[in-house]
Amino acid sequence: MAKDRLIIFDTTLRDGEQSPGASMTRDEKVRIAKMLEKMGVDVIEAGFAIASIGDFESVRAVAETVQNSIVCSLARTGAEDIDRAAEALKPAAAGRIHTFIATSPIHMEYKLRMAPDNVLERAVAAVKHARNLIGDVEFSCEDASRSEYDFMCRIIEQVINAGARTINLPDTVGYGEPGEYGAMVARIMNGVPNADKAIFSVHCHNDLGLAVANSLSAVMHGARQVECTINGLGERAGNASLEELVMAIRTRSDIFPVEVSVDATQIVPTSRLVSSITGFPVQPNKAIVGANAFAHESGIHQDGVLKYRETYEIMRAEDVGWNANKLVLGKHSGRAAFKARLADLGITLDNQAALNLAFTRFKELADKKHEIFDEDLQALMNDVQPDDLELRYSYVALEAVSRSGFKPRADIQLLIDGQAQQAAAEGDGPVDAAFKAVELLVNSGANLLLYSVNAITEGTDSQGEVQVRLEKNGSIVNGNGADTDIIVASVKAYLDALNLLDAGVLKAHPQHEGV
Ligand code: KIV
Ligand code: ZN
Repeated sequence: MAKDRLIIFDTTLRDGEQSPGASMTRDEKVRIAKMLEKMGVDVIEAGFAIASIGDFESVRAVAETVQNSIVCSLARTGAEDIDRAAEALKPAAAGRIHTFIATSPIHMEYKLRMAPDNVLERAVAAVKHARNLIGDVEFSCEDASRSEYDFMCRIIEQVINAGARTINLPDTVGYGEPGEYGAMVARIMNGVPNADKAIFSVHCHNDLGLAVANSLSAVMHGARQVECTINGLGERAGNASLEELVMAIRTRSDIFPVEVSVDATQIVPTSRLVSSITGFPVQPNKAIVGANAFAHESGIHQDGVLKYRETYEIMRAEDVGWNANKLVLGKHSGRAAFKARLADLGITLDNQAALNLAFTRFKELADKKHEIFDEDLQALMNDVQPDDLELRYSYVALEAVSRSGFKPRADIQLLIDGQAQQAAAEGDGPVDAAFKAVELLVNSGANLLLYSVNAITEGTDSQGEVQVRLEKNGSIVNGNGADTDIIVASVKAYLDALNLLDAGVLKAHPQHEGV
Protein backbone atom coordinates (compact mmCIF):
# COMPACT_ATOMS: atom_id res chain seq x y z
CA MET A 1 0.00 0.00 0.00
CA ALA A 2 1.33 3.46 -0.88
CA LYS A 3 2.45 5.40 2.13
CA ASP A 4 1.32 8.93 2.96
CA ARG A 5 3.80 11.70 2.39
CA LEU A 6 5.10 13.48 5.46
CA ILE A 7 5.55 17.19 4.86
CA ILE A 8 8.87 18.47 6.18
CA PHE A 9 8.43 22.05 7.40
CA ASP A 10 11.75 23.59 8.31
CA THR A 11 11.75 26.51 10.73
CA THR A 12 15.52 26.98 11.19
CA LEU A 13 15.22 30.50 9.80
CA ARG A 14 12.38 31.46 12.16
CA ASP A 15 12.21 29.39 15.37
CA GLY A 16 15.89 28.47 14.96
CA GLU A 17 16.71 32.13 14.86
CA GLN A 18 14.87 32.61 18.16
CA SER A 19 17.80 30.89 19.95
CA PRO A 20 19.53 33.74 21.79
CA GLY A 21 22.39 34.98 19.62
CA ALA A 22 21.47 32.92 16.56
CA SER A 23 20.31 35.82 14.46
CA MET A 24 21.22 35.60 10.79
CA THR A 25 21.56 38.26 8.14
CA ARG A 26 19.42 38.29 5.03
CA ASP A 27 22.21 36.87 2.88
CA GLU A 28 22.94 34.13 5.39
CA LYS A 29 19.26 33.19 5.44
CA VAL A 30 19.22 33.01 1.67
CA ARG A 31 22.24 30.70 1.68
CA ILE A 32 20.58 28.37 4.17
CA ALA A 33 17.28 28.52 2.29
CA LYS A 34 19.02 27.48 -0.92
CA MET A 35 20.50 24.46 0.83
CA LEU A 36 17.11 23.55 2.29
CA GLU A 37 15.60 23.83 -1.16
CA LYS A 38 18.36 21.65 -2.60
CA MET A 39 17.62 19.13 0.15
CA GLY A 40 14.00 19.10 -0.99
CA VAL A 41 12.41 20.43 2.19
CA ASP A 42 8.69 21.01 1.50
CA VAL A 43 8.15 24.23 3.45
CA ILE A 44 10.74 26.79 4.55
CA GLU A 45 9.57 29.15 7.29
CA ALA A 46 11.78 32.09 6.41
CA GLY A 47 10.98 34.40 9.32
CA PHE A 48 8.46 36.59 11.09
CA ALA A 49 7.98 39.40 8.60
CA ILE A 50 6.70 42.04 11.02
CA ALA A 51 9.54 41.51 13.53
CA SER A 52 11.83 44.07 11.90
CA ILE A 53 12.73 45.54 8.54
CA GLY A 54 15.57 43.00 8.37
CA ASP A 55 13.17 40.10 8.93
CA PHE A 56 10.79 41.42 6.32
CA GLU A 57 13.63 41.70 3.82
CA SER A 58 14.88 38.23 4.67
CA VAL A 59 11.48 36.67 4.05
CA ARG A 60 11.23 38.59 0.81
CA ALA A 61 14.73 37.61 -0.34
CA VAL A 62 14.05 33.94 0.40
CA ALA A 63 10.70 34.23 -1.41
CA GLU A 64 12.48 35.73 -4.42
CA THR A 65 15.13 33.01 -4.48
CA VAL A 66 13.43 29.73 -3.66
CA GLN A 67 11.43 28.11 -6.45
CA ASN A 68 10.81 24.53 -5.37
CA SER A 69 9.77 24.79 -1.72
CA ILE A 70 6.85 26.65 -0.20
CA VAL A 71 8.13 29.79 1.54
CA CYS A 72 6.30 30.72 4.72
CA SER A 73 6.14 33.71 7.05
CA LEU A 74 4.88 33.65 10.61
CA ALA A 75 2.28 36.23 11.64
CA ARG A 76 0.31 36.86 14.81
CA THR A 77 -3.42 37.28 14.35
CA GLY A 78 -3.45 41.06 13.90
CA ALA A 79 -4.25 42.31 10.39
CA GLU A 80 -1.03 44.32 10.31
CA ASP A 81 1.07 41.19 10.94
CA ILE A 82 -0.76 39.27 8.25
CA ASP A 83 -0.52 42.09 5.70
CA ARG A 84 3.20 42.34 6.31
CA ALA A 85 3.66 38.58 5.85
CA ALA A 86 1.65 38.65 2.61
CA GLU A 87 3.67 41.59 1.33
CA ALA A 88 6.98 39.85 2.05
CA LEU A 89 5.76 36.67 0.35
CA LYS A 90 4.57 38.38 -2.84
CA PRO A 91 7.50 37.21 -4.99
CA ALA A 92 7.20 33.58 -3.81
CA ALA A 93 6.51 30.87 -6.36
CA ALA A 94 4.45 29.27 -3.57
CA GLY A 95 3.86 31.15 -0.34
CA ARG A 96 2.19 30.36 2.97
CA ILE A 97 1.05 32.53 5.86
CA HIS A 98 1.37 30.83 9.23
CA THR A 99 -0.78 32.59 11.78
CA PHE A 100 -1.05 31.61 15.43
CA ILE A 101 -2.62 32.47 18.75
CA ALA A 102 -2.29 30.84 22.14
CA THR A 103 -5.15 28.56 23.15
CA SER A 104 -4.12 27.27 26.60
CA PRO A 105 -5.89 28.68 29.67
CA ILE A 106 -2.58 29.85 31.15
CA HIS A 107 -1.56 31.76 28.00
CA MET A 108 -5.03 33.20 27.34
CA GLU A 109 -5.42 34.44 30.93
CA TYR A 110 -1.91 35.68 31.74
CA LYS A 111 -0.29 36.48 28.41
CA LEU A 112 -3.10 37.49 26.09
CA ARG A 113 -5.54 38.57 28.85
CA MET A 114 -8.33 37.49 26.56
CA ALA A 115 -11.42 35.35 27.04
CA PRO A 116 -11.51 32.12 25.00
CA ASP A 117 -14.37 33.39 22.82
CA ASN A 118 -12.33 36.45 21.86
CA VAL A 119 -9.36 34.27 21.03
CA LEU A 120 -11.60 32.16 18.81
CA GLU A 121 -13.03 35.22 17.06
CA ARG A 122 -9.57 36.61 16.49
CA ALA A 123 -8.26 33.33 15.08
CA VAL A 124 -11.13 33.02 12.62
CA ALA A 125 -10.80 36.65 11.52
CA ALA A 126 -7.03 36.18 11.02
CA VAL A 127 -7.44 33.09 8.88
CA LYS A 128 -10.16 34.76 6.76
CA HIS A 129 -8.00 37.82 6.30
CA ALA A 130 -4.98 35.70 5.37
CA ARG A 131 -7.02 33.63 2.93
CA ASN A 132 -8.03 36.81 1.13
CA LEU A 133 -4.36 37.45 0.51
CA ILE A 134 -2.91 34.00 -0.16
CA GLY A 135 -4.24 30.51 -0.91
CA ASP A 136 -2.13 28.59 1.61
CA VAL A 137 -2.80 29.37 5.28
CA GLU A 138 -1.61 27.49 8.34
CA PHE A 139 -3.07 28.05 11.79
CA SER A 140 -1.33 27.13 15.05
CA CYS A 141 -2.89 26.72 18.48
CA GLU A 142 0.11 27.93 20.47
CA ASP A 143 0.67 25.80 23.60
CA ALA A 144 -1.69 23.15 22.24
CA SER A 145 -0.29 20.48 24.55
CA ARG A 146 -1.63 22.45 27.55
CA SER A 147 -4.88 23.55 25.89
CA GLU A 148 -8.35 22.20 26.65
CA TYR A 149 -9.61 19.59 24.25
CA ASP A 150 -13.14 20.98 23.68
CA PHE A 151 -11.88 24.49 23.07
CA MET A 152 -9.24 23.34 20.61
CA CYS A 153 -11.80 21.28 18.68
CA ARG A 154 -14.09 24.31 18.49
CA ILE A 155 -11.40 26.72 17.29
CA ILE A 156 -9.92 24.22 14.82
CA GLU A 157 -13.30 23.45 13.26
CA GLN A 158 -13.92 27.14 12.73
CA VAL A 159 -10.49 28.04 11.36
CA ILE A 160 -10.77 25.17 8.89
CA ASN A 161 -14.14 26.56 7.81
CA ALA A 162 -12.46 29.96 7.47
CA GLY A 163 -9.89 28.48 5.06
CA ALA A 164 -6.91 27.12 7.06
CA ARG A 165 -5.42 24.18 5.18
CA THR A 166 -2.85 23.16 7.80
CA ILE A 167 -3.54 22.92 11.53
CA ASN A 168 -0.50 22.90 13.77
CA LEU A 169 -0.61 21.67 17.37
CA PRO A 170 2.62 22.93 18.95
CA ASP A 171 4.15 21.60 22.10
CA THR A 172 5.36 25.13 22.70
CA VAL A 173 6.97 24.58 26.10
CA GLY A 174 8.23 21.04 25.49
CA TYR A 175 5.86 19.61 28.10
CA GLY A 176 4.42 16.73 26.09
CA GLU A 177 5.18 13.06 26.60
CA PRO A 178 5.13 10.86 23.48
CA GLY A 179 2.15 8.63 24.38
CA GLU A 180 0.04 11.50 25.64
CA TYR A 181 0.97 13.89 22.83
CA GLY A 182 0.33 11.38 20.06
CA ALA A 183 -3.01 10.52 21.67
CA MET A 184 -3.91 14.22 21.80
CA VAL A 185 -3.29 14.57 18.05
CA ALA A 186 -5.42 11.49 17.30
CA ARG A 187 -8.21 12.65 19.61
CA ILE A 188 -8.35 16.08 18.01
CA MET A 189 -8.32 14.66 14.50
CA ASN A 190 -11.24 12.43 15.52
CA GLY A 191 -13.11 15.17 17.37
CA VAL A 192 -13.05 17.87 14.70
CA PRO A 193 -15.85 17.18 12.18
CA ASN A 194 -14.05 18.77 9.20
CA ALA A 195 -10.57 17.43 10.11
CA ASP A 196 -10.30 15.74 6.71
CA LYS A 197 -10.13 19.20 5.08
CA ALA A 198 -6.75 19.96 6.67
CA ILE A 199 -3.30 18.49 7.17
CA PHE A 200 -2.43 18.13 10.86
CA SER A 201 1.02 19.30 11.84
CA VAL A 202 3.19 19.17 14.94
CA HIS A 203 5.84 21.52 16.25
CA CYS A 204 7.70 20.20 19.29
CA HIS A 205 10.20 21.87 21.57
CA ASN A 206 12.93 19.94 23.29
CA ASP A 207 12.77 21.14 26.89
CA LEU A 208 12.56 17.56 28.17
CA GLY A 209 14.62 16.11 25.31
CA LEU A 210 11.43 14.63 23.81
CA ALA A 211 10.86 16.81 20.74
CA VAL A 212 11.72 14.13 18.18
CA ALA A 213 9.96 11.35 20.14
CA ASN A 214 6.83 13.49 20.49
CA SER A 215 6.84 14.38 16.78
CA LEU A 216 7.24 10.74 15.74
CA SER A 217 4.48 9.67 18.08
CA ALA A 218 2.23 12.30 16.50
CA VAL A 219 3.11 10.92 13.06
CA MET A 220 2.06 7.45 14.23
CA HIS A 221 -1.23 9.02 15.31
CA GLY A 222 -2.05 10.86 12.09
CA ALA A 223 0.06 14.03 11.85
CA ARG A 224 1.30 14.54 8.28
CA GLN A 225 3.51 17.58 8.72
CA VAL A 226 6.43 17.93 11.16
CA GLU A 227 8.00 21.27 11.97
CA CYS A 228 11.69 20.99 12.71
CA THR A 229 15.06 22.65 12.45
CA ILE A 230 18.56 21.78 11.31
CA ASN A 231 20.69 20.68 14.29
CA GLY A 232 17.58 21.02 16.49
CA LEU A 233 18.22 24.77 16.76
CA GLY A 234 15.38 26.79 18.28
CA GLU A 235 13.95 28.68 21.21
CA ARG A 236 15.45 27.50 24.57
CA ALA A 237 16.36 23.78 24.24
CA GLY A 238 15.46 23.91 20.57
CA ASN A 239 13.01 22.23 18.22
CA ALA A 240 12.76 18.69 16.91
CA SER A 241 15.79 18.12 14.74
CA LEU A 242 15.14 17.65 11.04
CA GLU A 243 17.97 15.20 10.55
CA GLU A 244 16.81 12.93 13.38
CA LEU A 245 13.20 12.93 12.17
CA VAL A 246 14.09 12.24 8.55
CA MET A 247 16.53 9.47 9.36
CA ALA A 248 14.24 7.85 11.94
CA ILE A 249 11.48 7.68 9.33
CA ARG A 250 13.85 6.38 6.63
CA THR A 251 15.67 3.88 8.85
CA ARG A 252 12.51 2.53 10.48
CA SER A 253 10.39 2.50 7.35
CA ASP A 254 9.16 -0.87 8.63
CA ILE A 255 7.27 1.02 11.36
CA PHE A 256 6.38 4.50 10.12
CA PRO A 257 3.36 4.77 7.81
CA VAL A 258 4.84 7.74 5.91
CA GLU A 259 7.64 8.64 3.55
CA VAL A 260 9.69 11.79 3.19
CA SER A 261 11.04 13.14 -0.05
CA VAL A 262 14.15 14.97 1.13
CA ASP A 263 17.62 14.25 -0.24
CA ALA A 264 19.34 13.10 2.94
CA THR A 265 22.83 13.49 1.46
CA GLN A 266 22.38 17.24 1.90
CA ILE A 267 21.92 16.87 5.67
CA VAL A 268 25.54 17.09 6.82
CA PRO A 269 26.52 19.97 4.48
CA THR A 270 23.42 21.89 5.62
CA SER A 271 24.13 21.15 9.26
CA ARG A 272 27.68 22.47 8.81
CA LEU A 273 26.42 25.58 7.09
CA VAL A 274 23.88 26.35 9.83
CA SER A 275 26.47 25.75 12.51
CA SER A 276 29.03 27.96 10.84
CA ILE A 277 26.57 30.79 10.19
CA THR A 278 24.95 30.79 13.62
CA GLY A 279 28.13 29.90 15.49
CA PHE A 280 26.26 27.15 17.35
CA PRO A 281 28.62 24.17 17.32
CA VAL A 282 27.21 20.68 16.90
CA GLN A 283 28.00 18.44 19.88
CA PRO A 284 30.26 15.54 18.80
CA ASN A 285 27.82 12.87 19.96
CA LYS A 286 24.77 14.48 18.30
CA ALA A 287 22.81 11.90 16.31
CA ILE A 288 23.37 11.95 12.52
CA VAL A 289 25.40 15.18 12.30
CA GLY A 290 27.79 14.95 15.28
CA ALA A 291 31.45 14.25 14.45
CA ASN A 292 31.26 10.94 16.34
CA ALA A 293 27.89 9.82 14.99
CA PHE A 294 29.50 7.27 12.69
CA ALA A 295 32.90 6.86 14.39
CA HIS A 296 33.56 3.39 15.77
CA GLU A 297 36.20 3.72 18.48
CA SER A 298 36.11 0.40 20.22
CA GLY A 299 38.06 -2.46 18.72
CA ILE A 300 35.08 -4.80 18.95
CA HIS A 301 32.90 -2.39 17.02
CA GLN A 302 35.55 -1.74 14.37
CA ASP A 303 36.08 -5.45 13.91
CA GLY A 304 32.34 -6.04 13.57
CA VAL A 305 31.86 -3.18 11.09
CA LEU A 306 34.73 -4.40 8.95
CA LYS A 307 33.33 -7.94 8.85
CA TYR A 308 29.77 -6.92 8.19
CA ARG A 309 28.77 -3.25 8.33
CA GLU A 310 25.29 -3.82 9.71
CA THR A 311 26.63 -5.41 12.90
CA TYR A 312 26.91 -1.92 14.36
CA GLU A 313 25.70 0.53 11.72
CA ILE A 314 22.03 1.16 11.11
CA MET A 315 22.64 3.94 8.59
CA ARG A 316 25.43 4.69 6.14
CA ALA A 317 27.46 7.83 6.79
CA GLU A 318 27.49 8.62 3.08
CA ASP A 319 23.67 8.52 2.93
CA VAL A 320 23.50 11.61 5.15
CA GLY A 321 26.31 13.39 3.35
CA TRP A 322 29.32 12.60 5.49
CA ASN A 323 31.57 12.16 2.50
CA ALA A 324 30.62 15.50 1.11
CA ASN A 325 33.54 17.23 2.87
CA LYS A 326 36.01 15.76 0.44
CA LEU A 327 39.02 17.71 -0.67
CA VAL A 328 37.60 20.18 -3.14
CA LEU A 329 40.15 22.74 -4.11
CA GLY A 330 43.80 23.57 -3.69
CA LYS A 331 46.36 26.25 -4.34
CA HIS A 332 46.29 25.71 -8.09
CA SER A 333 42.52 25.68 -8.54
CA GLY A 334 41.27 28.35 -10.87
CA ARG A 335 38.48 30.87 -10.62
CA ALA A 336 36.03 28.73 -12.60
CA ALA A 337 36.49 25.71 -10.30
CA PHE A 338 36.16 27.98 -7.27
CA LYS A 339 32.94 29.54 -8.58
CA ALA A 340 31.49 26.14 -9.52
CA ARG A 341 32.19 24.72 -6.06
CA LEU A 342 30.55 27.73 -4.42
CA ALA A 343 27.52 27.19 -6.62
CA ASP A 344 27.36 23.56 -5.42
CA LEU A 345 27.27 24.91 -1.89
CA GLY A 346 24.36 27.16 -2.80
CA ILE A 347 26.50 30.31 -2.87
CA THR A 348 26.19 32.58 -5.88
CA LEU A 349 28.06 35.83 -6.00
CA ASP A 350 26.01 38.37 -7.84
CA ASN A 351 28.79 40.73 -8.78
CA GLN A 352 32.34 40.53 -10.08
CA ALA A 353 33.77 42.53 -7.17
CA ALA A 354 32.43 40.02 -4.62
CA LEU A 355 33.80 37.12 -6.67
CA ASN A 356 37.21 38.81 -6.95
CA LEU A 357 37.33 39.43 -3.21
CA ALA A 358 36.27 35.87 -2.44
CA PHE A 359 38.83 34.45 -4.86
CA THR A 360 41.63 36.56 -3.38
CA ARG A 361 40.71 35.35 0.13
CA PHE A 362 40.60 31.78 -1.18
CA LYS A 363 44.11 32.10 -2.64
CA GLU A 364 45.40 33.58 0.62
CA LEU A 365 43.90 30.67 2.52
CA ALA A 366 45.24 28.12 0.03
CA ASP A 367 48.73 29.54 0.57
CA LYS A 368 48.45 28.85 4.30
CA LYS A 369 46.49 25.64 4.10
CA HIS A 370 47.05 23.28 1.22
CA GLU A 371 43.80 21.35 1.33
CA ILE A 372 40.63 23.39 1.13
CA PHE A 373 37.43 21.61 2.18
CA ASP A 374 33.81 22.68 1.79
CA GLU A 375 33.77 23.77 5.43
CA ASP A 376 36.70 26.10 4.73
CA LEU A 377 34.79 27.64 1.84
CA GLN A 378 31.69 28.12 3.97
CA ALA A 379 33.73 29.87 6.65
CA LEU A 380 35.50 31.99 4.07
CA MET A 381 32.21 33.05 2.56
CA ASN A 382 30.87 34.07 5.97
CA ASP A 383 33.46 36.85 5.73
CA VAL A 384 32.84 37.76 2.12
CA GLN A 385 29.05 37.67 1.69
CA PRO A 386 27.76 41.16 1.02
CA ASP A 387 25.38 42.38 3.69
CA ASP A 388 23.36 45.45 4.30
CA LEU A 389 25.39 46.09 7.43
CA GLU A 390 27.70 49.06 7.20
CA LEU A 391 30.70 47.60 8.98
CA ARG A 392 31.98 49.99 11.58
CA TYR A 393 34.89 47.89 12.78
CA SER A 394 37.20 45.84 10.63
CA TYR A 395 40.35 43.88 11.25
CA VAL A 396 43.66 44.99 9.72
CA ALA A 397 46.53 43.22 11.50
CA LEU A 398 47.74 41.93 14.82
CA GLU A 399 50.86 40.78 16.53
CA ALA A 400 50.47 38.57 19.58
CA VAL A 401 53.34 37.49 21.78
CA SER A 402 53.10 34.62 24.20
CA ARG A 403 56.34 33.63 25.97
CA SER A 404 56.80 31.43 29.05
CA GLY A 405 57.40 33.60 32.09
CA PHE A 406 56.04 36.79 30.48
CA LYS A 407 52.58 38.25 30.34
CA PRO A 408 51.01 37.68 26.88
CA ARG A 409 50.62 40.84 24.85
CA ALA A 410 48.77 41.82 21.69
CA ASP A 411 49.28 44.78 19.36
CA ILE A 412 46.29 45.33 17.15
CA GLN A 413 45.39 47.47 14.15
CA LEU A 414 41.78 48.08 13.20
CA LEU A 415 39.79 50.29 10.88
CA ILE A 416 37.13 52.11 12.86
CA ASP A 417 34.72 54.20 10.80
CA GLY A 418 37.32 54.09 8.04
CA GLN A 419 40.16 55.41 10.28
CA ALA A 420 43.23 53.26 11.01
CA GLN A 421 43.68 52.85 14.76
CA GLN A 422 46.16 50.92 16.86
CA ALA A 423 46.37 49.70 20.46
CA ALA A 424 48.27 47.24 22.60
CA ALA A 425 47.35 45.41 25.79
CA GLU A 426 48.44 42.58 28.05
CA GLY A 427 46.13 39.81 29.18
CA ASP A 428 45.83 36.39 30.75
CA GLY A 429 46.44 34.80 27.37
CA PRO A 430 46.95 36.12 23.83
CA VAL A 431 43.21 36.10 23.10
CA ASP A 432 42.44 37.97 26.33
CA ALA A 433 45.19 40.47 25.47
CA ALA A 434 43.81 40.93 21.93
CA PHE A 435 40.25 41.51 23.19
CA LYS A 436 41.53 44.00 25.76
CA ALA A 437 43.40 45.85 23.01
CA VAL A 438 40.20 45.97 20.92
CA GLU A 439 38.29 47.32 23.91
CA LEU A 440 40.87 50.07 24.43
CA LEU A 441 39.87 51.35 20.99
CA VAL A 442 36.19 50.56 21.04
CA ASN A 443 35.10 50.82 24.67
CA SER A 444 31.91 48.91 23.85
CA GLY A 445 30.54 48.27 27.35
CA ALA A 446 29.41 44.83 26.13
CA ASN A 447 29.55 41.69 28.29
CA LEU A 448 31.24 38.62 26.90
CA LEU A 449 28.80 35.72 27.40
CA LEU A 450 30.56 33.03 25.43
CA TYR A 451 33.84 32.38 23.69
CA SER A 452 34.41 29.12 21.86
CA VAL A 453 36.87 27.78 19.30
CA ASN A 454 36.39 24.78 17.02
CA ALA A 455 38.64 23.30 14.40
CA ILE A 456 36.69 23.45 11.12
CA THR A 457 38.41 20.44 9.56
CA GLU A 458 40.98 17.88 10.58
CA GLY A 459 44.71 18.49 11.12
CA THR A 460 46.71 21.17 12.87
CA ASP A 461 46.55 23.41 9.80
CA SER A 462 42.77 23.53 10.15
CA GLN A 463 41.12 26.90 10.36
CA GLY A 464 39.85 27.72 13.83
CA GLU A 465 36.25 28.88 13.87
CA VAL A 466 35.55 31.18 16.79
CA GLN A 467 32.24 32.20 18.24
CA VAL A 468 31.93 35.25 20.49
CA ARG A 469 28.60 36.02 22.14
CA LEU A 470 28.18 39.56 23.47
CA GLU A 471 25.37 41.17 25.42
CA LYS A 472 24.59 44.84 25.71
CA ASN A 473 21.42 46.40 27.09
CA GLY A 474 19.55 43.12 26.70
CA SER A 475 20.59 42.55 23.06
CA ILE A 476 22.52 39.34 22.51
CA VAL A 477 24.57 38.77 19.36
CA ASN A 478 26.88 36.05 18.10
CA GLY A 479 29.97 36.99 16.16
CA ASN A 480 31.91 34.45 14.10
CA GLY A 481 35.40 34.49 12.67
CA ALA A 482 37.63 31.94 11.01
CA ASP A 483 41.32 31.85 10.29
CA THR A 484 44.23 29.43 10.45
CA ASP A 485 45.52 31.67 13.27
CA ILE A 486 43.03 31.35 16.11
CA ILE A 487 43.94 34.70 17.66
CA VAL A 488 43.12 36.42 14.38
CA ALA A 489 39.92 34.33 14.17
CA SER A 490 39.05 35.44 17.71
CA VAL A 491 39.51 39.12 16.92
CA LYS A 492 37.45 38.77 13.73
CA ALA A 493 34.67 37.10 15.73
CA TYR A 494 34.81 39.82 18.38
CA LEU A 495 34.59 42.56 15.75
CA ASP A 496 31.76 40.71 13.99
CA ALA A 497 29.80 40.72 17.26
CA LEU A 498 30.56 44.41 17.84
CA ASN A 499 29.34 45.23 14.33
CA LEU A 500 26.11 43.34 14.98
CA LEU A 501 25.58 45.18 18.27
CA ASP A 502 26.31 48.41 16.50
CA ALA A 503 23.71 47.65 13.82
CA GLY A 504 21.31 47.44 16.80
CA VAL A 505 18.59 45.56 14.94
CA LEU A 506 15.60 45.55 17.25
CA LYS A 507 13.17 42.73 16.63
CA ALA A 508 9.73 41.91 17.91
CA HIS A 509 9.58 38.41 19.36
CA PRO A 510 6.46 36.59 18.13
CA GLN A 511 5.66 34.89 21.41
CA HIS A 512 6.65 37.46 24.00
CA GLU A 513 4.50 40.38 23.06
CA GLY A 514 0.87 39.38 23.32
CA VAL A 515 -1.10 40.24 20.21
O1 KIV B 1 6.49 26.98 19.68
C1 KIV B 1 5.49 27.51 19.16
O2 KIV B 1 4.36 27.40 19.62
C2 KIV B 1 5.73 28.33 17.97
C3 KIV B 1 4.51 28.84 17.29
C4 KIV B 1 4.65 30.27 16.93
C5 KIV B 1 4.18 27.97 16.14
O3 KIV B 1 6.84 28.52 17.56
ZN1 ZN C 1 8.26 27.09 18.46
